[in-house]
Amino acid sequence: MELQNQEIILGVTGGIAIHKSLDLASQLVKRGASVHVVMTEHATRLVQPMQFQVISRNPVLLDLFNSGSDWKPVHIDLADRANLLAIVPATANIVGKMANGIADDALSTVAVSVHCPILIAPAMNGYMYQNPFVQANLQKLREHDIEIVEPASGALACGYEGVGRLNEVDVILERMTQILTTPKDLQGKRVVVTAGPTREYLDPVRFISNRSSGKMGYAVAEAAHRRGATVILISGPATAEPPTGVELRNVETALEMQEAILDVFDQTDIVVMAAAVADYRPQAFSHQKIKKTTDQLTIPLEKNPDIAQSLGQRKAHQITVGFAAETSDLLENAQRKLVAKNLDLIAANDVLAEGAGFEGDTNIVTLIDHAGNCQQLPLLSKRDVAHRILDRVVAMMQSGN
Ligand code: C5P
Repeated sequence: MELQNQEIILGVTGGIAIHKSLDLASQLVKRGASVHVVMTEHATRLVQPMQFQVISRNPVLLDLFNSGSDWKPVHIDLADRANLLAIVPATANIVGKMANGIADDALSTVAVSVHCPILIAPAMNGYMYQNPFVQANLQKLREHDIEIVEPASGALACGYEGVGRLNEVDVILERMTQILTTPKDLQGKRVVVTAGPTREYLDPVRFISNRSSGKMGYAVAEAAHRRGATVILISGPATAEPPTGVELRNVETALEMQEAILDVFDQTDIVVMAAAVADYRPQAFSHQKIKKTTDQLTIPLEKNPDIAQSLGQRKAHQITVGFAAETSDLLENAQRKLVAKNLDLIAANDVLAEGAGFEGDTNIVTLIDHAGNCQQLPLLSKRDVAHRILDRVVAMMQSGN
């Protein structure tokens, strides 16, 4: 009964995948949630409201002018009680209305009245889904922190193959549960996360860099945002998609990253350094492209500043977390870095291990704290690793060390 005491508004629009919404309503009730269904008129042409009423065990809201006997308008009452509004399936129509603040029926009015998180699971024909206006509307929703369960690819009800199928009920349920059960224990905290590789330029077109995708740091930034923190993400040129809801500051070189972090460090509570900062940069920068003249070319390198170490010297109230990407003697090296950089916690990972390290969506890390406690985590998604790290940070803040 993991959703006990959760009040969920389930918005249902007229997509052909509506039958999955019946299943979703039933799963939510089984998990203990109180489910209040709001249907659009088109949805009622596909499924009788009575089906949702019986499954959800609550009246179904269809019309703002013909519902309830209370003095309080029913959409406001629902909106005030809700912990989550989930719209499954979400048609191009509701997406467009939400992106433009249109409230011309019960569901779109509920959508502008709620003050809880919103999740939508779009489902439509592939051409409709790819339509630039639909995509622009979805992007607008994303930027306003609306969680979108992206549609899957496959055979569509309209006879086409492609993207647009409503995602699986299990996936939607999992995302809803995550939203409802993530603690807001970083509310009011300012978190800075560094992520991605740095680029150290030799000349205007060439640089030294590394394989970091930015995924681990982005996962930490997103997790901190979900837990209520105000997040600044200082990122090198990463390949991963940056999370929404955080302030992104793009940098390229280690020196730029250092400047960006020093700029905010004093007003920060927690710093998580997941960036793969280049240890060395070319000693000289050639303003012209270096010519292919000699058989061999030697490029002298000089040391970059160790950002984590300089923060370690400067830190006052901040909790600092670092990463140790190693290929040998994992724990010894990580422990040494924890001390040298005056970190509170270090996440050590063997980047050569299967399922760990760069580019992938999973990681295997061991968390070591300043008291020497070692916690070996199993293979987890980078998202789960991020939450485990933040769990430890929150525990440290609560215990005052
Ligand atoms: O010493 P090493 O690079 O292995 O340490 C890794 C940790 O230190 C990471 O948290 C990384 O972001 C940080 N680091 C840094 N500045 C550097 C090199 C690494 O902040 N120049």
